[in-house]
Amino acid sequence: MSNEALGRSMSGGAYGRPPAQYDPLLIDVAQGTPTGEYLRRYWHPIAGSNEVTTNPQKVRVLGEDLILFRDKGGRVGLLYERCMHRGTSLYYGRVEDCGIRCCYHGWLFDTAGNCLEQPCEPENGRNREVARQPWYPLEERYGLVFAYMGPLDRKPVLPRYDNLEDLASDEFIETETTGFGGYVAPVAEPAVPYHWLQAWENVIDPFHVQVLHTAFSGTQFKAEFLQMPKVEWTAIDGGVIYNAYRSLPDGRLLDRCNYAILPNIAATPKTDLTPGRSQVITWHVPIDDKTMRVISAARVRQKGYFTEYTQHNGKLWTELTEEERQRYPGDFEAQFGQGRINLHSDEHLVNSDRGIALLRRMMKQQIKIVREGGDPVNVAFAEKDATIKIVSGNFFSASAAE
Ligand code: FES
Ligand SMILES: [Fe+2]
Repeated sequence: MSNEALGRSMSGGAYGRPPAQYDPLLIDVAQGTPTGEYLRRYWHPIAGSNEVTTNPQKVRVLGEDLILFRDKGGRVGLLYERCMHRGTSLYYGRVEDCGIRCCYHGWLFDTAGNCLEQPCEPENGRNREVARQPWYPLEERYGLVFAYMGPLDRKPVLPRYDNLEDLASDEFIETETTGFGGYVAPVAEPAVPYHWLQAWENVIDPFHVQVLHTAFSGTQFKAEFLQMPKVEWTAIDGGVIYNAYRSLPDGRLLDRCNYAILPNIAATPKTDLTPGRSQVITWHVPIDDKTMRVISAARVRQKGYFTEYTQHNGKLWTELTEEERQRYPGDFEAQFGQGRINLHSDEHLVNSDRGIALLRRMMKQQIKIVREGGDPVNVAFAEKDATIKIVSGNFFSASAAE
């Protein structure tokens, strides 16, 4: 029987719908855009320390093509790709004791872009002191290399996260730089093929854990998540937290707290419900406006923190066929399914999306602050102010109270 015969309304057809659009304030990463400038006021991890060698490599961050290398003195450098002399790529350069030498005419640049030699010029380049290959500052911490790509006079201190500090003698930091949640990006190009915000917003969306990770796809984490949680979201200084409460069959109350930290960071509690504070920090680093890299550092006593996500109908994500990815989708499928860039005008945010609305509002407030000449949240200029307190985790209390 036709819809009409069934008495269903004939309005709302797909024909004639308005064109779908994204909100540029949530998407743009390029220099000069309000959001690109805001993102450039923070340090972003761009690689694992052990990935940066004397072999120069191309990296793309915030839509910029750059060359990353470690000179033979152990210093890491991030330079604009095109040589300032005549524009060939420093990808073909040779790393030396104090920098990288361009292959074409041999100009030598140190990790801060200073030109040390111009071998074809009289006296090795009489004016070489004024030559500067565009460069970005780098720092290493937690086994990662962090870049600051904003105005140099506003460069903040590299933040510390208190859940990764003060390690006991048997603890160490494990890193993950090529994928997330079981999804493995190709090693040659460790890119997740969609906009970074789609993954970051997922952090503050506790209801998808019940649906996607449990009811729809079978238990990907723990059976406890099948219970629909009672949820509160709270805007705190550094971002948004949720508390998702579940009364467990043994009478205990589980408070699962997740934390989305501005601008693109998460401190997620363990998905196997190990009690205690989150022991991981995850960055969703824009490569450009259609790709990102997920980079994480976890405080561990043994390796393997990032290989626990194997629950896709008993298989690894990499073992799934296309049809199995349809039957047992996970975070990658749900987020990639939103498109390379989510089209916000198509969305219908409801009650259970309050965390996402809150996060977007906060992000736009910070973009405005930067636009008006201020410094955004989670930026500090003194080491004593540079530690971000992690409040998320899996917390159990003895008796369930409403
Ligand atoms: S193009 Fe690099 S030294 Fe000439
Ligand atoms: Fe998820």
